[in-house]
Amino acid sequence: MPGKIIEPVLIDSFESLVFNFDEYVDRFKRDAVVVFRGSPISRSEQLQVTRMFGDVIGWYPNSSSWIEKVWWYEENHSQTMDKYNKHHIPKDEIFLPWHIEHIGHKNPAVGATWNMEKFTCDHGVGNTLFVNICDVYDLFSEEEKEFLKRCTVAAFYGWATDEYGKQQEPTLHEAVELHNPSGRFALRLNALFKYDRETFYLYHFDGREPSEAENSLFDDISLRFTKHIHHNEEILQTHMWQENDLVVVDLFLMAHAVMGGFRPSERFFHGMWAHRHPGSKYGLTDA
Ligand SMILES: [Fe+2]
Repeated sequence: MPGKIIEPVLIDSFESLVFNFDEYVDRFKRDAVVVFRGSPISRSEQLQVTRMFGDVIGWYPNSSSWIEKVWWYEENHSQTMDKYNKHHIPKDEIFLPWHIEHIGHKNPAVGATWNMEKFTCDHGVGNTLFVNICDVYDLFSEEEKEFLKRCTVAAFYGWATDEYGKQQEPTLHEAVELHNPSGRFALRLNALFKYDRETFYLYHFDGREPSEAENSLFDDISLRFTKHIHHNEEILQTHMWQENDLVVVDLFLMAHAVMGGFRPSERFFHGMWAHRHPGSKYGLTDA
């Protein structure tokens, strides 16, 4: 079941997107994702949109950083299909597993724009699924929320241990962080929803070594967090792609996954990452 289908914003030109921008910003702050549909957006216009959102949301790139390197990528998912032998995942199964972008990295992406330049497969395949981690946070009891607010997480980026420069030390972050654009609390636990100390663990509770009981409550909550993301249709949102859709997504909040049913030759988007600080996810400015 797809949960709630994300309703696109219909635009007839790039200029109309710019003209009504304030309205779309409000929507983005509320929903953490906006889909623009109806007019192809060039890559330079995409960069302009990414910067305009950066100005109001507080990410890079933005208008203060004209000379900054832009962290872009092209994605048809062929690498994942080749590497993990996932060429034949059907449309009703998850192809790219649930994840929160770049947890464990020094400078994780907090947003992205995805410009679907080619989409020739059937409507309803290759859907992108989203769960807002503020919605997950809200499902816990007041007592559990108070507990979580005192937790510091140690995280490794761990898509695979062969990722750039194998990580020796975890990155530390608070389990619960206030998300300024929405004023909501985000629960940032496990990036990949695996249960091993290789990926993430409770580093500190109240700034000290956690007790056994605290570790075990943290593990229990982490498991429930993951179950909500994987199975709770009440908070699930689905984007059904069409060619030329431009998605602007808050990646600090949106856990996401991609459904199968397509070939790399049928589905291709141009992405731009947005970071809280200038530089790449590694905290580097030139890699
Ligand atoms: Fe992703």
